[in-house]
Amino acid sequence: MNDQAFDTMYQELLGEYEARFPLSGERHARAKSVMVDGGQHTLRLYKPFPVYVTAASGAYIHDVDGHRILDFWQGHFANILGHNPPQVTEAIGEAIANGYGLQTGMVDELAYDLAALICQQTGAERVRFTTSGSLSTMYAVMLSRSYTGRDLVLKVGGGWHGAQPWGLIGVSYGEYGYQAPESEGLPGATFKEAMITRFNDSEALAQMFQEHGDRIACFILEPVIGAGGAIPAKPEYLQLARELTHKHGSLLILDEVISGFRFRAGNVGQMYGITPDLTTLGKIIGGGMPVAAVAGRAEVMTRAGREGGRRVRFDGGTYSAHPASMLAGKTMLKYLVDHEKEVYGRLAELGAQLRPRLEQIFADRGILARCTGYPNEAVKGSSLAIVHFPVRPDVEVDSPDVAEDPACCMLQVREQVLKLALLLHDVYTVHGLGALSTAHTETDLEHLYRACEHVAQRLRGPLANMY
Ligand SMILES: Cc1ncc(COP(=O)(O)O)c(C=O)c1O
Repeated sequence: MNDQAFDTMYQELLGEYEARFPLSGERHARAKSVMVDGGQHTLRLYKPFPVYVTAASGAYIHDVDGHRILDFWQGHFANILGHNPPQVTEAIGEAIANGYGLQTGMVDELAYDLAALICQQTGAERVRFTTSGSLSTMYAVMLSRSYTGRDLVLKVGGGWHGAQPWGLIGVSYGEYGYQAPESEGLPGATFKEAMITRFNDSEALAQMFQEHGDRIACFILEPVIGAGGAIPAKPEYLQLARELTHKHGSLLILDEVISGFRFRAGNVGQMYGITPDLTTLGKIIGGGMPVAAVAGRAEVMTRAGREGGRRVRFDGGTYSAHPASMLAGKTMLKYLVDHEKEVYGRLAELGAQLRPRLEQIFADRGILARCTGYPNEAVKGSSLAIVHFPVRPDVEVDSPDVAEDPACCMLQVREQVLKLALLLHDVYTVHGLGALSTAHTETDLEHLYRACEHVAQRLRGPLANMY
């Protein structure tokens, strides 16, 4: 890459962005005086400042500067039907109008309804709700460590399971790969208790279990890795993960916070023919409200309950099984179950159009771009798409390290340039695009293609003669 041309282009982008979103800039300067970095969640707080949202509907958000922006982030991938699906907003509005308690701190039938739907659609025997994916993965790890009486947690490099002690290791790619802890302030032992293996690398996994199998409490991974690059596990890799965890008495946790109900009306484990011990869920199952869950084998789950001696304190939670959230989740999942063919068929169709078209748009302008999110033999049809910019044509993005290693892909083009350049054309993306919802139309995709043509044109200079 021509570094000087790249820097010049990036500075120009920043200037154009600041000029196009002045009120967002003002709001953000104010926000920084009362919130750390001006807000929550680093992904939302991109540089130079984020767009400030005023309204959201279907495939679009509106911002304080008066733009109508096509959104592929869709609430951290939660909004599979787009923003504010009327099914959900009407159900909540009606329930509250009829006197339904917003937050009671007591039990009602809705939690049963949602849990029963999750069991029916995933094959889990027991469910317990919490309020974030991070909590669900943390509790799943605690259950595994209690059940096996072991300490070691195995995860894949680049796998994001939320900000909890065992999840804050091996997420960011650095000079030494994925080893470093992501945060200060963690319990001292956590780093010694987590091991990292390479996603989709069967040989590395077999070796890990051969060397440490009798100490591994659980192997936690996403069947379709999300933040790590929208990459589905190879079927033989997931099969091996199940075989090795069985053989060594470890538990298999499939983190389906993103993939759950994203590719079918249920978990992705089933699409691979895999029954995990525990599945973690979040995002879509809340129907736009903060709901997450651990679902799995009764024998493991009951350790959190009286029957299991409450050995694992997976309880409490002022807002756990929050009534309005349970209603939103139930309404969403019921809709997805009742319209499964239609919803997932449509998403698969749009995804199949989108990915090759994006690659072609960049290729036509001499830029190598590879989309991930393609389906495979197990995951048939996908609504995910991330654009990577490999440095050579032979780079296969089959694991997060490939997407993040500067010797393989230009991460800053994906994360910094693509994002700002697309926002100048009223398209919101994260990590190199995002997810489709049923609210997106072919016309919306045409808008995205036009925007990508402009971006590709911009990138031509800095990336000229580099392959
Ligand atoms: C796979 C996966 N697991 C866990 C989490 C954490 O979920 P939450 O942000 O709800 O805490 C995320 C969040 O993006 C995720 O993608």
